[in-house]
Amino acid sequence: LQPKSLAGKRVVVTAGPTFEALDPIRGITNHSSGKMGFTIARAAREAGADVTLVAGPVHLATPRGVTRIDVKSARQMLEATLAAVPRADVFVATAAVADWRPTSESGQKIKKDGSGQPPAVSFTENPDILATVAQSDRAKRRELYCVGFAAESHDLQTNAKAKRERKGIPLLAGNIGPLTFGQDDNQLLLVDEHGSQELPRAPKLQLARTLIAEIARRLPSNYKA
Ligand code: C5P
Repeated sequence: LQPKSLAGKRVVVTAGPTFEALDPIRGITNHSSGKMGFTIARAAREAGADVTLVAGPVHLATPRGVTRIDVKSARQMLEATLAAVPRADVFVATAAVADWRPTSESGQKIKKDGSGQPPAVSFTENPDILATVAQSDRAKRRELYCVGFAAESHDLQTNAKAKRERKGIPLLAGNIGPLTFGQDDNQLLLVDEHGSQELPRAPKLQLARTLIAEIARRLPSNYKA
């Protein structure tokens, strides 16, 4: 029997959208289903890792053996992630974090005031969870191996390479082709410091297993001399 590729490792995964409240009943979010992240959490667990899944609001079952922490907003996701990564070996950011949140959340439902004027909403930039984690000393020393995702509508090669460098991470997976919200298939472009490699269109579980294998063989402790 082959030893499992992530046995003894701790993996933290963010998944799904975030929800940024405007008032007690409304907010902004996006169409991320969370499927890719949940599947990566499952594949990491199958590979023997201790897995913590920080999930935004999604309708998905928790993969067997995975510890799930449910959050809503980007700030809650950052807090839960920062609490989990100090003991982790791998961080995979798949969440579609809202770039902006309403600057203030009304304590009461915002009502029409009869003037015909819609309310003005101002936005504040959310923290970049991946970039924040990637700046930590452990990540810089590669004791915490950080992996990002990119959903680009055009020029994936160029944009994915630039994003990997901008975020300061060793590995980035770009979604190739049309955005596949909620689909069971995906196609990924893996970009690291040596170049890029395409993982052909396949069910998300198969891609997740391949991605986990690619991560496992890049961990400093697994380098073959
Ligand atoms: O900059 P962009 O949103 O395209 O980057 C995508 C990558 O960064 C994904 O891995 C996503 O999970 C992560 N991200 C994050 N926090 C943000 C924005 C993106 O962790 N606020």
